[in-house]
Amino acid sequence: MGLRLEKVVPWGRSFDEYRRMFALSDDDLDRRILDCAGGPAAFNAAMNRRGTPIVSCDPVYQFSAAEIARRIDETYPVIVRGVAEDRDRYVWGDIHSPEHLGEVRLAAMQQFLADFEQGLRERRYIAAELPNLPFNPGQFDLALCSHFLFSYSVPLSWDFHRAAIAQLCEIAREVRLFPLLDNHSGQTSIHLDPAIAYLQDGGYHVEICPVNYQFQQGGDRMLRITHP
Ligand SMILES: C[S@@+](CC[C@H](N)C(=O)[O-])C[C@H]1O[C@@H](n2cnc3c(N)ncnc32)[C@H](O)[C@@H]1O
Repeated sequence: MGLRLEKVVPWGRSFDEYRRMFALSDDDLDRRILDCAGGPAAFNAAMNRRGTPIVSCDPVYQFSAAEIARRIDETYPVIVRGVAEDRDRYVWGDIHSPEHLGEVRLAAMQQFLADFEQGLRERRYIAAELPNLPFNPGQFDLALCSHFLFSYSVPLSWDFHRAAIAQLCEIAREVRLFPLLDNHSGQTSIHLDPAIAYLQDGGYHVEICPVNYQFQQGGDRMLRITHP
């Protein structure tokens, strides 16, 4: 993991957003969950408070809470300004303005920061990256991956996506990926159709599911992959 701190742009979502992005039922929350590319999201902290601890992995967990907090302070105003300049690409509803978006994200990231050091000790946060995760086949019931796969279709290649999705399918009985959009173009990722074909060839059941969450225009669908 050759990640440099100055390349990190922390941006994390809330527990409520995770529930809606991945259509998580109460039963789902009781499963053995991996949040892959969890970053500074509040999902792990909230699940731990709920009494159903999960595991999150991300290369950013190699840094300390103080280092991640410093990068949040440095990058947060830049991101909010970028969203304001591009406001037509987003759906303004529950989150009603770029400033409100900033407040929601900051609150989520503060929950993460408050939980991170203890979670590292409890091995709920693991510094690791796709496609080289240190987990065993079938170790999880459900792997979630939000705003990483498909989102960076440029520069992340199809070969990277194939290896990453194959690994998630090996370590979890079910995989959910959200959203299906490429951040750069705002359009459906060029890797979605190859991913579906690849998974179906491998005998997996693949569904595109509408979800009750949309912040990016057109970004209200997740990919659900289950073992035969
Ligand atoms: C936009 S953030 C999403 C954070 C969180 N999932 C959410 O939706 O709030 C993308 C995350 O992907 C992580 N990441 C980058 N390369 C990765 C890799 N090869 N494997 C796993 N995660 C990676 C980044 O460190 C970053 O925290």
